[in-house]
Amino acid sequence: MRPDGRAALVGAVAVSLLFACVPAPAVPTPTSVATAAAAKPTAAVPASPAVAASPAAVAASPAAAASPAVSPAAKPAASPAASPATVVASPSPVALPTPGPAPKPAAAGTFGFGRLATADDIKKVDIEVRPDGAGLPVGSGTAVQGRPIYAQKCASCHGANGEGGGAPKLVDPTPFKPGVTATVGNYWPYATTVWDYINRAMPFDKPGSLSADEVYALTAFLLSENKIVNESDVMDAQSLPRVKMPNASGFVSPDPRPDVH
Ligand code: HEC
Repeated sequence: MRPDGRAALVGAVAVSLLFACVPAPAVPTPTSVATAAAAKPTAAVPASPAVAASPAAVAASPAAAASPAVSPAAKPAASPAASPATVVASPSPVALPTPGPAPKPAAAGTFGFGRLATADDIKKVDIEVRPDGAGLPVGSGTAVQGRPIYAQKCASCHGANGEGGGAPKLVDPTPFKPGVTATVGNYWPYATTVWDYINRAMPFDKPGSLSADEVYALTAFLLSENKIVNESDVMDAQSLPRVKMPNASGFVSPDPRPDVH
């Protein structure tokens, strides 16, 4: 909204609020308030019904007076004047920015915005790691190296010892069965998935921020806390796929349960 438009609106609102408190005969019609506001913002500001209703104010701009309905300044003013109760609840309507022109598709079937992904763009999100270790990058880490990284970047959500808090429990060597909380240690079938998940999704509030070495060290730390590897075992692209997870054989196909078919 233009500044003078806002002034007109404020003026009109002030006038209508004022009139809401005075006896009925003094209340102008919505049209007269809107017209005065559109015609000359300053004329509507003084808290005098005589000025707002004055023919002089209307005469100042015959064009605006002739078609108040199409004037942007007149429109918002007309409705508060018509219902003072609404004005009190919502005193300053804000005009939305004018939308830009619609994008022009370069070719049929495209949307006309964005660009084609480059090989580099794709490389950044092409981060799938498979159970056999395919996709694991160069790098390495141990639980000893992972412990301080965990304390700094993970403990706030997952608890100092992976016991959980705002975020899931990560450490529990108790063999998984109904009634035991599933963790990366007792439930996940592949150690490489732990690497993949931490790499793509954690920390929850800053995914993608960890280096490959940090992810190896954090994976080693969680495996060690779950009593699956030793504290000094080096985890890298060769050793991680060889780690045997306790629940690796817990996922079978076809599903033998009689009630799931
Ligand atoms: C800001 C809070 C927060 C931080 C910090 C955080 N996480 Fe998480 N993490 C979560 C939440 C929430 C989930 C559950 C996400 C879901 O289920 O979609 C989760 C899930 C996980 C899981 C999967 C658990 C499961 O069994 O399903 C792992 C593993 C994990 N986080 C590891 C980490 C590691 C390692 C770090 C430190 C680098 C970390 N997280 C930092 C909030 C956090």
